[in-house]
Amino acid sequence: MSLLGASVGPAGDVVTVEMAAGPVRFHALWLRDNARDEASRHGDNDQRLFDVTELADEVTAMSAEVVNGCLVVAFGPDGVTSVYDEVWLEANRYDGSVTASFGRPVSWGAAGLSVQRLPWTDRQDLEAWEAITMALVRDGLAIVDGLAVGDDAAGTGATGTGAGIVDVANLWGPVRETNYGEIFHVRAEANPTNLAFTPRALNVHTDNPYRRPVPGYQLLHCLVASDVGGVTVLVDGFRAAELLRGEEPGAFELLSTRSVPFRWSGDGFDLQNRGPLIEVEEGGPEAGAIRAVRYNNRSAAPFDQPFDEMTAFYEAFRTFAQLLHREDLEYRFTLAPGECLVFDNERVLHGRHGEADPERYLQGCYLDRDWIHGRQLT
Ligand SMILES: [Fe+2]
Repeated sequence: MSLLGASVGPAGDVVTVEMAAGPVRFHALWLRDNARDEASRHGDNDQRLFDVTELADEVTAMSAEVVNGCLVVAFGPDGVTSVYDEVWLEANRYDGSVTASFGRPVSWGAAGLSVQRLPWTDRQDLEAWEAITMALVRDGLAIVDGLAVGDDAAGTGATGTGAGIVDVANLWGPVRETNYGEIFHVRAEANPTNLAFTPRALNVHTDNPYRRPVPGYQLLHCLVASDVGGVTVLVDGFRAAELLRGEEPGAFELLSTRSVPFRWSGDGFDLQNRGPLIEVEEGGPEAGAIRAVRYNNRSAAPFDQPFDEMTAFYEAFRTFAQLLHREDLEYRFTLAPGECLVFDNERVLHGRHGEADPERYLQGCYLDRDWIHGRQLT
């Protein structure tokens, strides 16, 4: 692998680099904006030191050549020269179809899922931690086990009852606190502020689409299991959205381009946000890929589509909802005491099948996405 050569187009506005896979074009302005020289980027943090308004109106490449395996470009009119190595060019090229270099989601149906686990005792094993972190990005879920059990276990291991949900969150980062507090308690309550805090069966959903930003990850730690009912149901929303795109492209188009309102009020808060039920990547190497799914029948506010679109929107919405309830997409299991399910809250829908035993007790919390997806793995 090496750069084979480079040339500048006749107008000086395009540089063509002969890379292993063939010629790849870069705009001179793009290369100048991303110049790697020390006047352009800070040596310690690699942050850009100038603003685009400081560049000349017409940036040109005066010369481009390969020197010691790297691309060297001299720019006019400011005379800056910058060196780009092959790895950087490969990671950032945008000409033609390119492959994203980050870990990417792989969607699953119930049959194809094998849930990655991390025993709490292995938490300091870097390889094990990386494996579960990668699984969270790939599958959207994983389980940490060997944690505290019992009704009196606190949210952390501080009481000596074993590791709690905050300890699990802290494997990646700080808890994203909400008006429910640092952790929330899923068990039957006398005056529930949310249907989740009752023993009722719960339709599959993503949590809190009414918050801005929506919590990226959710953790659910089982302290006391249910003798009857309380089966956890998970559905990969990305798989459902992909199926919708294949089976009903018109419905997919509507749900991925029209935003809907979400709302929850109580406890002195009136939380509102809006967004499409299916969000797709709009640009870049992953353009068109599913980015997020939001579905929550309890907190969907009245739809506000234009009058002439409402009938078609409802038809698309109903079609997607039916897909999300398809049995072959449902992964069902019972979370055992001492287990904590960690899942992508903008991808994996969760629900409860059957009425749960009022004794069942889970603790939950949220974690922002960057603590998991932004990690640099070796
Ligand atoms: Fe929930």
